[in-house]
Amino acid sequence: MKKICIVGASGKLGQYLVQHSLDRGYQVVGVCRKVSVQKLDRFKGRITLFPGATNDREVIAKAVQGCDAVLTVLVPWGVNQYSTGTAQAVLDHAQPGARLVFSCGWHITMDGRDVYSPLFTTLVAIGGWIGRLLRIGDIDDQVEACRRVFTSNARWTVVRGSKLEEGESQGLPVCSAHVGDPILASNITRRVDFALFMAEALENDKLLHRAPAIVGCQTPSALAMKRTV
Ligand SMILES: NC(=O)c1ccc[n+]([C@@H]2O[C@H](COP(=O)([O-])OP(=O)(O)OC[C@H]3O[C@@H](n4cnc5c(N)ncnc54)[C@H](OP(=O)(O)O)[C@@H]3O)[C@@H](O)[C@H]2O)c1
Repeated sequence: MKKICIVGASGKLGQYLVQHSLDRGYQVVGVCRKVSVQKLDRFKGRITLFPGATNDREVIAKAVQGCDAVLTVLVPWGVNQYSTGTAQAVLDHAQPGARLVFSCGWHITMDGRDVYSPLFTTLVAIGGWIGRLLRIGDIDDQVEACRRVFTSNARWTVVRGSKLEEGESQGLPVCSAHVGDPILASNITRRVDFALFMAEALENDKLLHRAPAIVGCQTPSALAMKRTV
């Protein structure tokens, strides 16, 4: 990895992705909305920015040129398929063979073998309904975005985040192929470590064509499972 692009660089997760990428010595290119450029002021002179909507195909085409990898924050904003447009633009324009890592939540399932609690399913359903009603977001858009990634031939990984919190890094999260695995029961990850997992995935070919669900490595469920191994 030499040069990588971060799509959605100005968000909370995106800024951590920028920091981890710079820490690894990568040349960093970022895409973020024009209104959010100033959120990245602390990286001025260290990253190259392409201001624009992350589903703007022209912006993405320019930004990913010559990049060995693309880290994409998939957020289902609005009701106009923002997430799907973002994922498709990255899939279409990333250079052949580029390593692609996408973020989403546990609610996304790749093979239908995730086991969700009734509470989780209810919260996703209510959240989705309210989002659509107020036209602020559409969870189905993120589902479609990930479906397109899952069926593509690109070198992808989709990292599925638990609930997130801020705080100092606790280290690389643990993961499982399926929600419902007891190791994930604590359902909480530091956002900085979500980004760490995505950055590490770039160099981990075992995660190719996988959608690991993650949880913080210091959470009770992660520690309990470690003790039993
Ligand atoms: N939040 C959670 O608890 C949670 C749980 C599990 C998984 N995840 C996943 O984690 C990732 C990051 O989520 P996050 O909640 O932590 O948010 P975040 O990192 O703050 O990212 C939000 C992104 O959405 C963009 N955005 C905000 N308003 C927008 C608008 N009106 N139109 C277009 N883009 C807009 C932001 O760009 P600007 O900087 O331009 O505003 C930013 O890139 C997502 O993939 C999410 O599915 C989140």
